[in-house]
Amino acid sequence: MANDLMEKIISLCKRRGFVYPSSEIYGGFANIYDFGPLGSLLAKNIRDVWIKKMVQERNNMYLIDGSILMHPKAWEASGHTAAFTDPLIQCPLCKKRFRADKLEGWELEKDNQTGKWNVLNQGSLICPDCNGDLIPEVKEFNLLMTTSVGSVEGEKTKVYLKGESCQNIYLDFLPIRDTMGAKIPFGIAQIGKAFRNEITLGKFLFKVREFEQMDIEYFCSPEEAKKLYEEWKNIRFNWYIDTIGLSKDRLRWRQHSSQERIFYARDAWDIEYKFFDDFDELEGIHDRSDYDLKQQGKFSGKALDYFDPVSKTRFIPNIIECSGGLQRTFLAVLSESYQEEKVNNEKRVFLKIKPSLSPYKVAVFPLVANKDNLTEKAENVFNLLKPEFMTMWDNIGNIGKRYRRQDEIGTPWCITIDYQTLEDDTVTIRDRDTMEQQRIKIEEIIIWIKEQLHA
Ligand code: GAP
Repeated sequence: MANDLMEKIISLCKRRGFVYPSSEIYGGFANIYDFGPLGSLLAKNIRDVWIKKMVQERNNMYLIDGSILMHPKAWEASGHTAAFTDPLIQCPLCKKRFRADKLEGWELEKDNQTGKWNVLNQGSLICPDCNGDLIPEVKEFNLLMTTSVGSVEGEKTKVYLKGESCQNIYLDFLPIRDTMGAKIPFGIAQIGKAFRNEITLGKFLFKVREFEQMDIEYFCSPEEAKKLYEEWKNIRFNWYIDTIGLSKDRLRWRQHSSQERIFYARDAWDIEYKFFDDFDELEGIHDRSDYDLKQQGKFSGKALDYFDPVSKTRFIPNIIECSGGLQRTFLAVLSESYQEEKVNNEKRVFLKIKPSLSPYKVAVFPLVANKDNLTEKAENVFNLLKPEFMTMWDNIGNIGKRYRRQDEIGTPWCITIDYQTLEDDTVTIRDRDTMEQQRIKIEEIIIWIKEQLHA
């Protein structure tokens, strides 16, 4: 049933322009996807509501948009060049690569300082793909992707694509402290790209090699860290319910065990969502102590500290990190909102997305396409709404078919211009979820939609 839902969502995403495999004319590329016309709008709306709630509506949050390429030393300081590893086993026959810790019966433990994986229990040695014999040799596979900067061959510098988007937030702590008059506690927020050479993929957008992270790094005194950590856990959990529209019973908390937790973190919890069959990570919320600023300070030789004018003390700020995935939120929205029902013995598919996230807010139809006076009136309404909302025009097929097309992409309201419109300047407005229609005056449409969007 759950896999069935995933297949339906993948098919809808392709058919209706939400998501396309990257470079599909070459057979696709390495679990990398493009957002199509509808998907770009949904992704943009998720980014927008994140920025609105986490930055605009708060007093102490600074938004940045950092570069993808950074000084390579930053990745040494963070430990990624040494320890951002997964345990790899490659089948000598079919050459397929597997994460050893995901193979049947295998148990491994990672040393987070060296990136070394120790095998606690050796499991199955049969390749899950070709049934050939696996060699029990586990390699540390670094997930960072590399490229080079510089124009002269031989003098190029090897650099890394961001393995996690947040790293430049730590580096921008200093200019923000000094230029923005930021007073602790304060946060730096960023939505940015991350790249990982993931070994195991699958589950569509859930695990991809290029994705976006929505990150908050919240800088605070060591004394306040515990209290603020709990506050941020609540803020982020409720954002998925109130702003994104996920249901509470498909969300849960999972605490990292002491073996799983990175050695410097004081506490780490994941917000998990039941995407299809299982609960899986949507966002990580970590109490990272003062490790990040200490490390970047040590490697750069700069004092990444803070002088508190009230207590007259100088300290290295602690960091509470909230790091969520845009692609995973996008997938959660689709799996939560996908609905099927029978209407007049026909299947109706609709996306019950929160209107604030819907790619198009409204669609405008002339009742029939071959009457000039109806089309002209409908075009006037369309042109009136376009500057205010993402508005779609459709005059193809009968009204029932047009409603179904909008239902499938989650458009909350459809407006039809009919013969009565020509007489009294009213239109019908139809609700996606209830399919009920009401008549309203053309001059009241904009205010009506705005009211619904803010309801
Ligand atoms: N800076 C912290 C960090 O990167 P993470 O748990 O590795 O922590 C944070 O990633 C979030 O990024 C995850 O909760 C998930 O939503 C998203 N994410 C991580 N790897 C991903 C991948 N390969 N594909 C899609 N999203 C991913």
